[in-house]
Amino acid sequence: WWKAVEPAPKDPILGVTEAFLADTDPNKVNVGVGAYRDDQGKPVVLQSVREAERRILGKENMEYLPMGGSVKMVEESIKLAYGENADVLKDKRVAAVQALSGTGACRLFAEFQKRFRPESQIYIPVPTWANHHNIWRDANVPQRTFHYYHPETRGLDFASLMDDVKNAPNGSFFLLHACAHNPTGVDPTEEQWKEISYQFKVKNHYPFFDMAYQGFASGDTDRDAKAIRIFLEDGHQIACAQSFAKNMGLYGQRVGCLSVICDDAKQAVAVKSQLQQIARPMYSNPPVHGALLVYSILSDPDLKALWHKEVKVMADRIIGMREALRGNLENLGSPLSWNHVTDQIGMFCYSGMTPEQVDRLTSEFHIYLTRNGRISMAGVTTGNVEYLANAIHEVTKS
Ligand code: LMR
Repeated sequence: WWKAVEPAPKDPILGVTEAFLADTDPNKVNVGVGAYRDDQGKPVVLQSVREAERRILGKENMEYLPMGGSVKMVEESIKLAYGENADVLKDKRVAAVQALSGTGACRLFAEFQKRFRPESQIYIPVPTWANHHNIWRDANVPQRTFHYYHPETRGLDFASLMDDVKNAPNGSFFLLHACAHNPTGVDPTEEQWKEISYQFKVKNHYPFFDMAYQGFASGDTDRDAKAIRIFLEDGHQIACAQSFAKNMGLYGQRVGCLSVICDDAKQAVAVKSQLQQIARPMYSNPPVHGALLVYSILSDPDLKALWHKEVKVMADRIIGMREALRGNLENLGSPLSWNHVTDQIGMFCYSGMTPEQVDRLTSEFHIYLTRNGRISMAGVTTGNVEYLANAIHEVTKS
């Protein structure tokens, strides 16, 4: 039956974790996957999550959630994205469902887009998170790209981005990273977001925001939602994928949210029912436990305050590691500029290393990262930063 089946290519991100786990070298370092580690390199369960778990323990039942997931969790989730007092919430214009983290939210949206805008395409930034391509491919939505990153400046290629926005056919769908762009760590400034939003209005483009890292860019969840709030103020009907993998450390719980802003409450009911119908044959309904954790944290002022503090601690540790990595590289006398290590934000540093240099890091130094040169700063610690800097210096100096 399956003679013709060839092994699938390794996933460019999760394949790195597999290779890391298989390595027995004691000095091995994993700066591949975007998963937060403490300064001992250990995965972290947030105190707010532990406390939420304690409160839930013994009280939760194991019944099915509705197809659209936990209504209470979803309500809290969209408040976090759009702001407590957002008009779209008061007007009940948001169709929102619980999703299987950010990936699941993107996937639901891509299916929805295909079903109700079958002729549409999606414009995706270059570069982007590798899985975006898979998600829209599997939903059979044709993909186009738009300029985003400037390899020479290691910053935003704003002029080319704006040209692409202007030149795309009116009414095009665009995928935007709300904050802490993955993989580049480069975000538009507030002023630039305003210009992008304005141009989207002129062109009647559709903004789909992937917000996987709310809180990780600045340590402040409101500030990190700025792009979304600007688009809201300008009256765009946006859609947004939210993930609680990173900012609550709920990676394996697969909890997130997809929201789609509609004309009015009636349309929101219709859109939500269709999103549920897309979920039903795929996975029927989403898991309970993570949703309960998220709801418990976001609905309790004390737990929420603790969580905000913890997000800031994670973001600050990463900023500290950026400084340490850059400092170490400069102390080693690297002839290259490493300003971008501290200029870029969020979980990732888009180092500018070539695939060949990355291969050397892995084969000679047991350092694991994606071949596009992305370093997950969340995997850098005071214990390995010197080793990492040394190795980067060795492979980049000539
Ligand atoms: C990453 O980019 O490393 C994360 O979003 C994890 C993933 O699923 O790829």
